Amino acid sequence: MESITATPEWAALEALAAAGPPDLREAFDADPGRAERLTFTAGDLLVDLSKHLVTGEIVDALLALGRRAGLEERTAALFGGEHLNTTEDRAVLHPALRAAPGDRFADEGRDVVADVHRVLDRMEALAARVRSGEWRGHTGEPIRDVVNIGIGGSDLGPAMAYGALRRFTTPALRAHFVSNVDPAHLESVLAVTDPATTLFVVASKTFTTVETLSNARAARRRVTEALGGEDAVARHFVAVSTNADAVAAFGIDPEHMFEFWDWVGGRYSMDSAIGLSLMIAVGPDRFREMLAGFRSIDEHVREMPMGQNVPALLGLIGVWYRDFLGLPSYAVLPYAQDLARFPAYLQQLDMESNGKRVRLDGTEVDLDTGPIVWGEPGTNGQHAFYQLLHQGTTVVPADLIGFVEPMADDDDGRHDLLVANLLAQAEALAFGKTPAEVAAAGVGAALVPHRTFPGNRPTSVILAPALTPSVLGQLVALYEHKVFTQGTVWGINSFDQWGVELGKELATTIAGEVMAAERPGLDHDASTAALIRRYREGRGRA
Ligand code: F6P
Repeated sequence: MESITATPEWAALEALAAAGPPDLREAFDADPGRAERLTFTAGDLLVDLSKHLVTGEIVDALLALGRRAGLEERTAALFGGEHLNTTEDRAVLHPALRAAPGDRFADEGRDVVADVHRVLDRMEALAARVRSGEWRGHTGEPIRDVVNIGIGGSDLGPAMAYGALRRFTTPALRAHFVSNVDPAHLESVLAVTDPATTLFVVASKTFTTVETLSNARAARRRVTEALGGEDAVARHFVAVSTNADAVAAFGIDPEHMFEFWDWVGGRYSMDSAIGLSLMIAVGPDRFREMLAGFRSIDEHVREMPMGQNVPALLGLIGVWYRDFLGLPSYAVLPYAQDLARFPAYLQQLDMESNGKRVRLDGTEVDLDTGPIVWGEPGTNGQHAFYQLLHQGTTVVPADLIGFVEPMADDDDGRHDLLVANLLAQAEALAFGKTPAEVAAAGVGAALVPHRTFPGNRPTSVILAPALTPSVLGQLVALYEHKVFTQGTVWGINSFDQWGVELGKELATTIAGEVMAAERPGLDHDASTAALIRRYREGRGRA
């Protein structure tokens, strides 16, 4: 496999990086059209890329790199159902999850859109029954709480979206998300719910994930104890999975299983049946609006030339930072409390996809792949870690995401204040404050260095009209395609996750050892063995 680092396109970018990134003050002064030229739209999203450390020449060189990496061909292959997930020999057809009826997406010649809509219709029927009160629990009461039990891609998407779409939910029907095998997590939800009026959605693509199955078993015990027997399971448990046999073995009626397929990666699954708890909470119409939002970005990606394809541009600029300017992390800073879980969602999407060290052909990469992705809502982050963003020694590129419409009644201008902060941070990070400006404001010489802001700290500003279901779908799809762009340039498989396996294997062994009644033989390094013994002692085990 050709290494992208051996191409003239890569060398051209190295030469540009060696000359140093542009100075944003100078770039804006020299080019009054810069902001306009580097602001793009994708669906309802206005994306201002002008505060990134790029020039027209750098953007052109990045586009040439994207072309050299085959981004256009790979995008066609993605939508064409090719088995891009080579290590698992699977198609990567999450765009089919939001296809309109009649669109065509095929896996090995089989059209999958009809299957998608069949499951969506079944989800919709269940959601309607729960929401109307027609679906009754074992004791005849309507459902008031839905508890999604899942982890990773079977949790983060619906949990993030439930927060994001809080305005579209009703207090009469609350959703909860239990992911951690820490018993405190399930307990905290059971403490505020009544088994008689709770529906558990056990969400697991494989239905083998130990955390999810352990929590689901604990919840089932609680329900059967509280409601008087196994009969209650049918009215209080449904499943979302690709593994019908394991669902049946767990004791959930296949009639109450909502299917998805191996061509949907876990972290790309929030718009599949994995979104069932979200659909119940916000209603089928809102869920379908969200799907339409996803679809509008898919259409943007398919139709726009690379130079106006916003996810591709975001991805390529990210490659510029990671590989040519050597920046290790990327922050996502939503100026919306309702998007509090969005950075966590993106951590899985990005880091599980592109945290790879070998290329598609198994050879080791000779470049840097996925960045460390992190973030918190503004303005909270401003009073915590933004100090480092402004004056630390590591430059952290960031996406600042804001909305024109307030997410709650705003009779006193707090939303305006929120957005003013977003805009102010992007301005301060980009342009900083020179020593001369600090001194001119009357600051004594000793304090000038402390109060100087170097600036040239890059951001995107993403502005949308409102945090609606459609806009949420657009935002998620934007990042899905950004991640795809970067994985393509790096030549890695963004759709497997072998790196999670070793820890799971060892945990299975160690779980047996920490739980064993008799003192176990420990075949571990000295540190791990000592820690196991210390834990066993603490738990009163020999
Ligand atoms: O361990 C990682 C992972 O496999 C993720 O990729 C996935 O989203 C999560 O676990 C949950 O998997 P499942 O949906 O099969 O329970």
